[in-house]
Amino acid sequence: RRAPGRPRLSPVRLSSTGAAAQRAPGREEADSKVSSWKKTFPEVQAERLEQAQRTVLINCPAKISEKKFLKYLSHHGKINSHYFYESYGTYAVVEFSEKDSIASLQDITRTPGIEEECAVPFKSRLFTLTLKNSSIQAADQAPVHCHKQSTILVNDLVQKLCSADSVSSQLYTLMDEYQLTEENTKLRFLACSLIQEIACAYFPECTVKPFGSSVNTFGKLGCDLDMFLDLDEIERSPTRTKTGPFYMEYQMKRVPSQRIASQRILSVIGDCIDNFGPGCVGVQKILNARCPLVRFSHQPTGFQCDLTTNNRVAMRSSELLYIYGSLDSRVRALVFSVRCWARAHGITSTIPGPWITNFSLTMMALFFLQKRTPPIIPTLDQLKDLADAEDKHIVEGHDCTFASNVNKIKPTENTETLDVLLSDFFEYFGNFAFNKNSINIRKGKEQNKPEPSPLYIQNPFEQALNISKNVNQSQLDRFVALARECAWILQQEDKGHSSLSNSQPWGLAALLLPSVASNCVKGKKKRKGPASERIKSLLDSLKINNANSLVNNGGK
Ligand code: CTP
Ligand code: MG
Repeated sequence: RRAPGRPRLSPVRLSSTGAAAQRAPGREEADSKVSSWKKTFPEVQAERLEQAQRTVLINCPAKISEKKFLKYLSHHGKINSHYFYESYGTYAVVEFSEKDSIASLQDITRTPGIEEECAVPFKSRLFTLTLKNSSIQAADQAPVHCHKQSTILVNDLVQKLCSADSVSSQLYTLMDEYQLTEENTKLRFLACSLIQEIACAYFPECTVKPFGSSVNTFGKLGCDLDMFLDLDEIERSPTRTKTGPFYMEYQMKRVPSQRIASQRILSVIGDCIDNFGPGCVGVQKILNARCPLVRFSHQPTGFQCDLTTNNRVAMRSSELLYIYGSLDSRVRALVFSVRCWARAHGITSTIPGPWITNFSLTMMALFFLQKRTPPIIPTLDQLKDLADAEDKHIVEGHDCTFASNVNKIKPTENTETLDVLLSDFFEYFGNFAFNKNSINIRKGKEQNKPEPSPLYIQNPFEQALNISKNVNQSQLDRFVALARECAWILQQEDKGHSSLSNSQPWGLAALLLPSVASNCVKGKKKRKGPASERIKSLLDSLKINNANSLVNNGGK
């Protein structure tokens, strides 16, 4: 089981043609099957957004004849693809080949005849299909095949990992289980496109795009859906005509700042989503956050959504992560495992608080990979040096320039296995001088901390910001203690000194077990302090949250 891994194919599942990650040791057979040309982030986004515009979402009975269903819909035009999934009922995602098919389908669609309630007459691309003679039609029908939209349970994952043949292939197995599927990625773009339809009532030229882990290649099934309401197309002015004696300008409402404009826009769009958005529930306007947002749950797709606007820097950081994730297959494999490990031990949490976030962990992993000899990925400054004129991006005074074409970036010469990288990751951060140094992926070098936050990870674009300002000392200490313990376990196994018998979880599987956490305190105070201490930590986290107005959403 310690043999070098021969992992399975794990292409980056963001472009619809399946662009793959760069060659890594043991991936020869995988690489021969996929195209080496990788699409740029804007190309993938444009393609997916256009595809979503031609797609409808239909709530249908679980027992339905797929053949009759497709025949019925194909009266409206050619269907490119379809699939079923479950979320508060059975849903079908149907992608037509032409946008016109949707208008044709809408023409024959009735508004609901509800007896005791009243329907808000907003027509969207979200439909309900019912059977005319349900008892007869559904009688002999088997339920349709539904695509999974969530990850397997950790216990099942641990079992799977145990049958891998190396730590390296364990990491790839975890990534294969956790990464977004093609279907789930399509559904995320569709959810954005449905919200865009609502926002278009006010701003006909707007687009709603996903950002963050839904598109940066590090998304896990079940992760939240970060949405960006893009109004830039509206604001883009045509070049001034040189002919004629006049200029024409729109009269527009003026407000004191961009922040106030964003708050007002999100406030009305939030109301629209709340009042007219089919399937949108639990709408919360969090307009006082550093980056104002509207949070809601989109029930038909099952996504927890965070809608922001005027957040171009976060879009650039999503693109940067996409580039890093597409450069070398080891990058995503390491990040997925570290994120999964952190979640298993409560280092990260779904609740905002003084915890390390997935975004911070990703930055730490990227920094670690920049520090290898030779480096596995370039620094942001090196990516900036490779940039073309069209890659130049200055957003609100912040330099967000970097090469966007992955194909132009020379692959690394580094051939280290993930067995080595995982173990060294834990050793590196188990011994990192967090008290004096900050992490900086722009330079790929640790630097003196400019202020005394326990964990300082410089925002790569808004360089005066610390993306982990919310993390307190005790959370950082837990991370360090666990990292040391994990480095130790992996090193013992490597020396053949493992205390674990063959039937017990080993490698990455052993690191995901709760027993690691309880062993790791080594004479210091226990992981779970007395209840009073835990309550105090929770209260502190709430205070921090209020003070920083949801620092966790800081860069959104
Ligand atoms: N972001 C940022 N600075 C922060 C927090 C977030 O720039 N302090 C940006 C990043 O581009 C990040 C995106 O906002 O990817 C979305 O944030 P979040 O949802 O917290 O992180 P994700 O990367 O989407 O990870 P997760 O899977 O945990 O949602
Ligand atoms: Mg997110």
